[in-house]
This record gives sequence, C-alpha cells and structure tokens, in this order.
Amino acid sequence: MTFDPDATLLKIFTDPETISDPYPLYAELREHAPIFKTELVGRWVLTRFDDARALLRDPRCGSGAGLTDERVSLDGTKRKVRSGTLSMLMLNPPDHTRVRGLVARSFTPRRVEKLRPEVEQMCDDLLDDLGGEGDFVGSVAFPLPANVISALVGVPAEDREYLRPLIYDLTVGIEQTASPEDLAAAEVSGAKLTEYLQDLVARRRAEPQDDLLSGMIQAADGEDKLTESEVLVNTSLIYAAGFETTTHLLGNAVRQLVAHPDQLELLRNDRSLIPQAIEEVLRYDPPVQVDGRHVFEDIEIGGVTIPAGSSTMTLLGACNRDPSLVEDPERFDVTRTDTQVLSFGSGIHYCLGAALARLEGEALLGKLLDRYEHWEITEEPAWRNRMTLRGVDALQVRFR
Ligand code: HEM
Repeated sequence: MTFDPDATLLKIFTDPETISDPYPLYAELREHAPIFKTELVGRWVLTRFDDARALLRDPRCGSGAGLTDERVSLDGTKRKVRSGTLSMLMLNPPDHTRVRGLVARSFTPRRVEKLRPEVEQMCDDLLDDLGGEGDFVGSVAFPLPANVISALVGVPAEDREYLRPLIYDLTVGIEQTASPEDLAAAEVSGAKLTEYLQDLVARRRAEPQDDLLSGMIQAADGEDKLTESEVLVNTSLIYAAGFETTTHLLGNAVRQLVAHPDQLELLRNDRSLIPQAIEEVLRYDPPVQVDGRHVFEDIEIGGVTIPAGSSTMTLLGACNRDPSLVEDPERFDVTRTDTQVLSFGSGIHYCLGAALARLEGEALLGKLLDRYEHWEITEEPAWRNRMTLRGVDALQVRFR
C-alpha cells in the first residue's frame, strides 16, 4: 500500500485518539514524506530537524500576516485574520528587528532572573492550595505562568484573577481547527485584555514602576519609541505566547516523570539534573507542535524546491525526535546533554520568553521534589483538543 501523507496529517490534527501520542505518526511522515505539500490546505509540511531549522532561519521566509486577510483551516473553513498593528511575531525585518529590539531592552535576562524568588514563592503558595491532591493543571500549571507574566508585565496582584480566564481564551486563533465559537470568545477576551492594558499603560505612563510595561513605554532607540498600540499588541502577545505554552510544559513535566519513574528517581537523587530534565521534557513533548512560515522566494530545502508564495508548517514535535539528530529519540532520558530542540522555534523569532519558561519549569520541579516522594496520576488526563498548542486541560494527581 502506498503511504498517504495527507491521511496521516489529517489524523494527527483531527483524530481524538491521536492527540495523546502523535509521535508514531510523526515518525511515519518523517520517514516516508519528510517534506510534502498537503492537498488539504496547500501548505508544505516539514518533519526533519535540519530541514525545519534551515527553513525557520532562512531570510527568504517569514510571516505571511498582512499578505492575506483570510486563512483556511484544515477542515476547509475560512476565517478572517485580525488586522491592525501587528505583534512582533507577525512582522518581518526591518519592522521585526526594530520592535523586537525595543521590547527586548525591557525583557532582559536581569528582569527575568529577578523574578526567581517571586516565582518560587508562587510555586509554594499554589502547591499549598493544591494540598497534594486534585487537578494539577487547574490549580498550579495554569495559574503559575499567568501570575508570573502578570508580575513581569506589572499587573497588580489584585487584578490577576480577572485576567486569567481572558488569557485562557486568547490563543485559539493559531489552531488549525478552531471553531467559530472559540474564535468569537478569543475576540471578546482579546478586546477586554486590551481595554485593561490601555488603562494600565496610562497608569504606568503617569507613574513608572520597575516592570516590563513601564520599560516598554520608556524604551527608546534614539528618537524611536514603541507606539501605544505597539506596546499594547506586544504585551498581549507576551500573555498569549507565554502562558498556555508554559502551562503545558509544567503539565508535560509531571506526566512524563510519572510515566518514567526511573527518571524521576534519577532526579530525586541528583537535583543538578533539573535543567536537563526540563530540556528533555521540551524535546520529548514540546508544548508548541506547529510553526508556520510564508515563503517569499523559491527555496531549496532537503533537495525539494518550495516555490515562492507557499506557506509551510513545521511539525516541531516530529523534528525533536529526528533520529539523525539524537540517539534513541523515543527514549525519555533526563541525563541527556547538549539536547537540541526546536521547541522554542529558531532564527529571528526564537522565543523571547525561553529563559522565563525554563525558570518556571525548574522552580516548580524543584519544589515538587522537595515536597513529595510519591507522584501519581489518578485519572486519564483530559486533553485540550488542540494540536498547535498541545497539552492537557486537567491532570488529576496525588502527591505524597
Ligand atoms: C514552554 C514555554 C514556551 C514555548 C514552548 C514557547 C514557544 C515559542 C515558539 C515556538 C516561538 C516561535 C514562533 C515562531 O517561530 O513563529 C515563540 C515565540 C515567542 N515567544 Fe515563546 N514559548 C514559551 C514561553 C514563552 C514565554 C514565557 C514568553 C513570554 C513571557 C514567550 C514569548 C514569546 C514571544 C514574545 C515570541 C515572539 C518572538 C518574535 O516574534 O520575535 N514565550 N515561543
């Protein structure tokens, strides 16, 4: 029987049985159709590490936002893409270089590292609330990144509860299979978040604090400053990009360590392995599974010419398990060193929050190891039905 890459791709994105483990299907694509144009949506699909990294780093590829105001989902439905001021994720050079540069001035490693004690305190408080048993995602993995980004941006503690449900809705727009209801909810929540941030920007403009928002308002390169709408749209991006991704990293860390008790034991005996363990979770089960690009000029990747005007999907979870990159890629192994991953993308859009996500993962893992010897998952996890941002919505645990 000939291999049908479209059928495999459709199964990956739509079969509820596959979402918990798409990796065998990724392996089939990587082996039989590592670069192919799917007839489903006319996009090129890449599953090998070297090919994907080359594409993500190639200046002949970039964001296609603004080229069209319509996007086609895998199931064939069409939807509008939001226009207006674009976040850095949607920009190409030189605009991307300018905006990312200005935001990065405030999103410094120093500002991230300064958050460490506060993040550790948040982990303790949330684990106290969980009390060793219940839904780990709802009680810890979801509120932690939401609160951490709020602290980073400078959202007062008393407002964080209000923002949490809004940011839960935000990210659905990037999914291949978003329903009109999901998109409408994202639209409403996005508008409420912007309204809230507009007010906060006015307050920080009047009275700057030592936070990211004040930094972004003030950041200037000579005469050049971020406009008000650039501050707003990039703050919303930081929320959208930084919270559910990290929620899934935390949930995946617990799932994988419970599934691999020998690895949990290694960590328990050697805490210096914690950063490697987080890297391995990122490699083995990355929270972002799909990264997209638009191709501006013909490019040759892995012996295939992808013509100008094409759009692409790189399947990051497939690339991270490419056997030409890593030995025995299907084995979860917290002792790996020099792990290479595409989990944070590659090239000019490489995740701005990677250090913060790692910090959160490491802090929480450390606290869990301090507190609990026995980790157990007591129910089959409930998957959020999304492949681009893939992870569980609820994870019932018992820690003792
Ligand atoms: C485990 C957690 C995270 C994962 C897996 C992740 C993944 C990614 C990926 C794959 C990209 C590249 C998108 C592309 O190439 O089109 C990206 C970009 C980005 N991420 Fe993250 N991210 C995480 C956490 C965070 C956090 C905590 C923040 C901020 C607080 C953040 C902010 C951003 C921003 C601003 C960009 C856009 C950068 C640009 O366009 O230049 N991310 N992230």
